[in-house]
Amino acid sequence: MANENSGLHKAKRNKNDEFYTQIVDVERELRHYRDQFKGKVVYCNCDDPYVSAFFEYFTKNFEFLGLKRLVTTCYKSQRLDLFSQNDSKEAIKLEYTGGAPNSMPKPNDIGITPLNGDGDFRSQECVEILNGSDIVVTNPPFSLFSEYVAQLANHNKKFIIIGHQNAITYKDVFPLIKNNKMWLGYGFKRNMAHFVAPHYKDTASDADHRDGMIRVSGVVWYTNLDHHKRHEEMILVKRYDGNESAYPLYDNYDAIEVSKTQDIPLDYEGAMGVPITFLTKYNPEQFKIIGATESEGSGFSFGLWKPESGISQAVIKGKRVYKRLFIRNHNIASEK
Ligand SMILES: C[S@@+](CC[C@H](N)C(=O)[O-])C[C@H]1O[C@@H](n2cnc3c(N)ncnc32)[C@H](O)[C@@H]1O
Repeated sequence: MANENSGLHKAKRNKNDEFYTQIVDVERELRHYRDQFKGKVVYCNCDDPYVSAFFEYFTKNFEFLGLKRLVTTCYKSQRLDLFSQNDSKEAIKLEYTGGAPNSMPKPNDIGITPLNGDGDFRSQECVEILNGSDIVVTNPPFSLFSEYVAQLANHNKKFIIIGHQNAITYKDVFPLIKNNKMWLGYGFKRNMAHFVAPHYKDTASDADHRDGMIRVSGVVWYTNLDHHKRHEEMILVKRYDGNESAYPLYDNYDAIEVSKTQDIPLDYEGAMGVPITFLTKYNPEQFKIIGATESEGSGFSFGLWKPESGISQAVIKGKRVYKRLFIRNHNIASEK
């Protein structure tokens, strides 16, 4: 049974790796970083050239952004015209250095070379391309997200990538978020993305259903490129003083519960537990991230947890709550 389950899980995971980003979503996010691409080498290392919105965006805007070079590699595929078939042991690399302004370059306008291997982003030859590039932009396979981010961090690369918000508390991801080495981008409307999904039938029946696409909630952009939104101060209107019952202390953490980001009190100095969606409003000049619940990783709460409770999820009056980040308000003195 265990094997059967893990097999199913793997199949589901792999299918989730085959969601393709729409050009409108790439444009909507990347316009906020336009001035940071000048003279840069961009690498899309989990891509499907020609059918990829990333390839389309960077080739069409190559001159406008002032790029130096665009490199894309295509996993287990040599086809230019199809989404990854993952049916080839070898893969190809495409390199574009401009020259077809405002249009998709023809195959003759780009350098297409076979790779020695299958184009796995972890392979030696792809790591060498990574080392020679400045900014990585892609939608990597969800199932390899931790490993993918760890590689970018180890190689000290700038990036703008798509992932699920649940990854915020992954072992290899959370320390980067906590230490302001990675943060959320502007994001998708209502934190929800529609991906082109050739192998998956969307059963969503609401107004957001679109044929040939899958709607996925909780999808975010992760980046370490600075942007305007992360320096916007969140306007706080609630007070803790006189309203203490709305902010109960956890039974097993030395912090108060703030169940909605918009309810963060402007006058509380100590640790506050907030939902992970807080990060969409996070401004590092206003707040400090001090940890997360131990249910996400041992030691993640940096001393806020009361281990004698034996329960790693946050508990309020005996009731467990969903995972929390712990934050502190930097500007409390001026707020009082
Ligand atoms: C979520 S899809 C996104 C594709 C494309 N970046 C886009 O957004 O349209 C993830 C892509 O990663 C590729 N992929 C899966 N495992 C990979 C690996 N180990 N190395 C590189 N690419 C991989 C898949 O073939 C797929 O094309």
